[in-house]
Amino acid sequence: MKRTNVVQPPVHELHCLVDVVDELLDSLVELEQRVQQASDHYDTRPWQAENFARDLPGKRELSLVATVSGKPVGFLIASRRPDGAHIHRVATDPRHQGLGIATRLLALLLARVPGIITLICDACNQPALALYARVGFRVTGTTPEGKLSLATGTVFRR
Ligand SMILES: CC(C)(COP(=O)(O)OP(=O)(O)OC[C@H]1O[C@@H](n2cnc3c(N)ncnc32)[C@H](O)[C@@H]1OP(=O)(O)O)[C@@H](O)C(=O)NCCC(=O)NCCS
Repeated sequence: MKRTNVVQPPVHELHCLVDVVDELLDSLVELEQRVQQASDHYDTRPWQAENFARDLPGKRELSLVATVSGKPVGFLIASRRPDGAHIHRVATDPRHQGLGIATRLLALLLARVPGIITLICDACNQPALALYARVGFRVTGTTPEGKLSLATGTVFRR
């Protein structure tokens, strides 16, 4: 049989933030800076260690980190809200984008949280908006700063 050389993407592992935050805190800050430098539509102020470590309801359990060979390549930071959860951050290392990491992180959160999940996104961030639409988010409004509010589930607006 003829063999072809197929290059496989590196396999990533998923962890709860609570299990890796102490060990990977510096690497998460460094990853955040790299993502921010590579993206035109991410937050202009990259998160520092205190932002990752800051305690919010359910944050350490709901938040997820993807690693390859023990190094973080993506993360989703979320906390509990009375009716579900809010996503504060989703990012994938520019060298690992397009491999399904953010899709997997979002799918896991959606499977875990029965209520409504909300997030805010820059209206120009087409890759992120396409991804959110594909996993079930809908635009529900605009923030005072002009960003888009998105949510899963049925949201009633008056
Ligand atoms: C948005 C982001 C988190 C997606 O992460 P990812 O791990 O690459 O996402 P996935 O591999 O699951 O891909 C999801 C979809 O987006 C597409 N995509 C991912 N990165 C892309 C890019 N840079 N340009 C165009 N499309 C991209 C993928 O092709 C895929 O689409 P498909 O399933 O129709 O083929 C990532 O691009 C990122 O970190 N961007 C910078 C930070 C950011 O903007 N975060 C969101 C703030 S609201």
